[in-house]
Amino acid sequence: MIVLPDLPFAKDALAPVISANTLEFHHGKHHKAYVDNTNKLIAGTDLEKETLEAIIKKASGDPAKAGLFNNAAQVWNHSFYWQCLKPGGGGAPKGAVASRITATWGSAEKFFEELKNAGVTQFGSGWAWLVLDKGELKIAKTANADNPLVHGQKPLLTIDVWEHAYYLDYQNRRPDYLSAIMEKLINWDFVNTNFSK
Ligand code: FE2
Repeated sequence: MIVLPDLPFAKDALAPVISANTLEFHHGKHHKAYVDNTNKLIAGTDLEKETLEAIIKKASGDPAKAGLFNNAAQVWNHSFYWQCLKPGGGGAPKGAVASRITATWGSAEKFFEELKNAGVTQFGSGWAWLVLDKGELKIAKTANADNPLVHGQKPLLTIDVWEHAYYLDYQNRRPDYLSAIMEKLINWDFVNTNFSK
């Protein structure tokens, strides 16, 4: 059975960048629905006792399990996204990953420009990511529920660019939402924990 994790901060802690109202719907309705749907789809099957990661990998690429993949990957993506945010975060990269970012993109500014561009140009719903791919830092974007884990990449950071992530606070201004997350919310401690694993 998959459990909805609590948010790692109070519902009003990310305001005004992300309002309590957005978190109420995004965590309490959307994320919860992905958890509930996943549990319904694995009930009574041999996947019932598997970890979320194992369910995602087993459902990936199997057309008969597309619904399960979409829901299970969305559970994982959201649980990861919450940990990528923290009140008083954002700004210049910190820790060991900071020097790798500079070495890879030349400057933090260039990195932020490319991360924002990935989020802005993801057509429709999806995610912008910083990943490790064969030891190299890369920026990626995925559509809908798709997730770097099933492409052999290690996720370090993600930003949800589904409209439900920003529409109540920013309406159609996805670029403003992305800028505000990068300036004020990225949890660089979490990114470094993933980088050093
Ligand atoms: Fe979302």
